[in-house]
Amino acid sequence: MKKTIAMLPGDGIGREVMNGAREVLSVIAEQYGHEFNFTSGLIGGSAIDERGVPLPDETLELCRNADAVLLGAVGGPKWENQAPANRPERGLLAIRKELGLYANVRPVKAFECLEERSPFKKSVLQGVDFVIVRELTGGLYFGKPSGRSGSGEKESAVDTLVYTKEEVRRIIKAAFEMASGRRKKVTSVDKANVLESSRMWRETAEEVKKEYPEVELEHMLVDNAAMQLIQNPARFDVIVTENLFGDILSDEASVLTGSLGMLPSSSLSLNGLHLYEPVHGSAPDIAGENKANPLAMVLSAAMMLRTSFGLEEEASAVESAVQHVLNAGKRTGDLAAADEQVLTTEEMIAEIKESLEEDNAII
Ligand code: NAD
Ligand code: IPM
Ligand code: MN
Repeated sequence: MKKTIAMLPGDGIGREVMNGAREVLSVIAEQYGHEFNFTSGLIGGSAIDERGVPLPDETLELCRNADAVLLGAVGGPKWENQAPANRPERGLLAIRKELGLYANVRPVKAFECLEERSPFKKSVLQGVDFVIVRELTGGLYFGKPSGRSGSGEKESAVDTLVYTKEEVRRIIKAAFEMASGRRKKVTSVDKANVLESSRMWRETAEEVKKEYPEVELEHMLVDNAAMQLIQNPARFDVIVTENLFGDILSDEASVLTGSLGMLPSSSLSLNGLHLYEPVHGSAPDIAGENKANPLAMVLSAAMMLRTSFGLEEEASAVESAVQHVLNAGKRTGDLAAADEQVLTTEEMIAEIKESLEEDNAII
């Protein structure tokens, strides 16, 4: 199979983990006889430094000419004082909007061998396997008006939470589709006791449910959901929610896996061009030190192999390699216990590659 993969490393550890994903994908290409053509584009702070804007046109063009996009992470203290319209994060929001990436799918699965690394009891982690389906191109992140006016104590700032029914319906449908192939339960998370947008969200969820009689639908207020996620996480199958709620709940959920560095995601469009990105950010506190956990990025690449290219066996091989390496006690600093050896980002990638190669030798 011949595929073009646009790689947007971005900033901070984004660059380090992207290098790792590329190496892993190269092994897969060689082992399974595929030809992956990697192209590379600027986004975020590095794009601001080199091109003056967080999402240059040429980067968008590069993505549109690719079969799938991989993104590392954007942002960092260097660009914190940029004008709001020219912050690194704006590049990320813009690419999501431009490519129509409305559905961000964030699977949360607790690896048994990492149970010790999570602050939760084993009994809480048993059977944790859910997916957060986060709306990604609407809601509070994109609503207008958004901005500041006035001055002194009378200065005001506004952000707007707005959704069209159509936007809500398509993300809820995506969640029901996903639940149909899983444990058939959708938890729609909102704040319908306060927000009008949530009341419309809830009504729409009920409408969509009629098309999926075999899937159970429950509604949950977001504050309760934040609590249930750590009290009884195994109760969830598919969670569907508004952009900002989904952002917050997914970082919270990552603690169940032991580290934010373990959570991959896919950002899906309706036209077949999808983007894959770890849930974590550019981690300025460890950037440039070869310390980052590359597994969220590697697992995002596996999601790409499966979802964009239909390469189930290859995706499973990458996931099995991750499992194998973790089972063997290999850990980057975010996951290592005090008495355990700490691997660098590059060493972790070398372990994954070795495991893939060994696996292939057995076949
Ligand atoms: P962050 O996710 O970058 O880091 C939070 C904490 O988790 C840090 O202590 C960090 O060291 C740790 N961490 C994150 N990923 C890790 C990994 N792979 N391995 C080991 N440890 C890891 O969040 P933040 O510090 O709040 O944000 C830093 C910058 O990243 C900000 O500019 C923010 O806007 C940006 N950000 C970008 C994305 C993205 O591009 N998708 C996502 C989140 C945050
Ligand atoms: C994420 C990030 C982004 C978001 C930021 C960097 C704009 O936190 O992908 O989770 O809030 O969507
Ligand atoms: Mn986030």
